[in-house]
Amino acid sequence: MKFFIDSANLDEIKDLVKKGIVDGVTTNPSLILKEKERTGKSFEEIVSLIASVVEGPISVEVNSLEYEGMIEEAKNLASISKNIVVKIPMTENGLKAVKTLKNIGIKTNVTLVFTPVQAVLAAKSGATYVSPFIGRIDDISDEGIKIIEKIMKIFKNYNFETKVIVASVRNPIHILNALEMGADIATIPYKVFTQLIKHPLTDLGIKRFLEDYEKSKN
Ligand code: E4P
Repeated sequence: MKFFIDSANLDEIKDLVKKGIVDGVTTNPSLILKEKERTGKSFEEIVSLIASVVEGPISVEVNSLEYEGMIEEAKNLASISKNIVVKIPMTENGLKAVKTLKNIGIKTNVTLVFTPVQAVLAAKSGATYVSPFIGRIDDISDEGIKIIEKIMKIFKNYNFETKVIVASVRNPIHILNALEMGADIATIPYKVFTQLIKHPLTDLGIKRFLEDYEKSKN
């Protein structure tokens, strides 16, 4: 399973690139706004800076809800860097845009997907990636991860090529479940990456080994 970082924060992205554990990036308008407020940089600057440090796919969302607007924005975004993937919301206009963009060679990530059938529609229209949001389903007292299991099974049954990005990840258990289900990608917030790295027994083990090393020197 590939690990993407769900962030527009350049420091977080650079840190994970240095650790070699990140294969791509996903952003959304809220994450871009946070980075704009943190750094004062413009939307274009933020996207270009991310593209300057990440070789893998970088998803950036369109803001238009109209078909023509989506296509125009998608072309502009794709011209920023060759690894930009255009995030398109799961709507009727969105599906139309995905089909057109596939035909002109622009990769897409259909976002705000909450049911397996929405994922199938995205795949049929030619999406490169589909992003089911599991945490937001958990937030309304259902089990978001269940849709990943269903989508993986359905995509296998019908040989859909669209890759599944487990999105709206909130904790390490989401990642473990996604790995067990054979999801293609998980897009993970920085905080969850740090939780994945840490284990109290690792810390305790390091402390004890250091203490014993100090004693063994005398
Ligand atoms: C995915 O591409 C989205 O950016 C993201 O995972 C949304 O997560 P949230 O529900 O924590 O905002």
